[in-house]
Amino acid sequence: MNNSRIISSNQQGVHDKLDTIVRRHLKSPFRRPFPDYSLRAFEQAQQVVAQHRGPLILDSFCGVGESTINIAKTHPEALVIGIDKSSHRLDKHRQHFPNNDVQNYYLLQADIDDFWRLAVADGWRLQQHFLLYPNPWPKAAQLKRRVHGSPLFPALIQLGGKIELRSNWPIYVEEFAQALSIAGFKATAHVYTPARSITPFERKYSESGQKLWYCQCQLD
Ligand SMILES: C[S@@+](CC[C@H](N)C(=O)[O-])C[C@H]1O[C@@H](n2cnc3c(N)ncnc32)[C@H](O)[C@@H]1O
Repeated sequence: MNNSRIISSNQQGVHDKLDTIVRRHLKSPFRRPFPDYSLRAFEQAQQVVAQHRGPLILDSFCGVGESTINIAKTHPEALVIGIDKSSHRLDKHRQHFPNNDVQNYYLLQADIDDFWRLAVADGWRLQQHFLLYPNPWPKAAQLKRRVHGSPLFPALIQLGGKIELRSNWPIYVEEFAQALSIAGFKATAHVYTPARSITPFERKYSESGQKLWYCQCQLD
């Protein structure tokens, strides 16, 4: 049995600044310049996408890429790009999944903070976008590090598609759903029990008996 600890936070519900911060970010574009390594990573992705003539799915924060391979198997018509900034995690992919014959996925080391904005600027439109167990940043002071509290949130929306966020911290999912509602979309948080875990973190939390939460939203 796994024994993963339940997230503890000094926040007891949706952050009281969420509304103000999301509205501010929706009004003002995030203009941080792109470092060279991000531009190079994006060029790599562009080359892979250019060779594919079908729907595109992103698996952001993919870790070791277990979810990427699982999503690719269930969406054979799509190209699934898994993105993570940790080479350590990505390097474990081959070790975990040697000689697999799934062809329609690609793992890329890149920083989401730049990648989403570069993809928007390049006109990408996604069929689906998975955000599975992003770091929760549970301290109240860390709201701006969460996807929905960050200046990146408008880029996430502009990428479009059916979005799915999962977390073991209900407040993260509630805030995410609320941020989407502020942006004009219909979204709510739900509890769920996966029939089969598709990521290592999902497995770890499930085996520890933790409740899991998700939010799905059609962005188009
Ligand atoms: C909690 S792990 C979840 C990994 C995987 N989705 C899973 O469920 O097993 C969060 C992942 O997000 C990645 N990450 C955090 N910030 C990132 C960023 N700005 N760009 C890309 N990856 C990032 C980390 O390297 C880590 O692998």
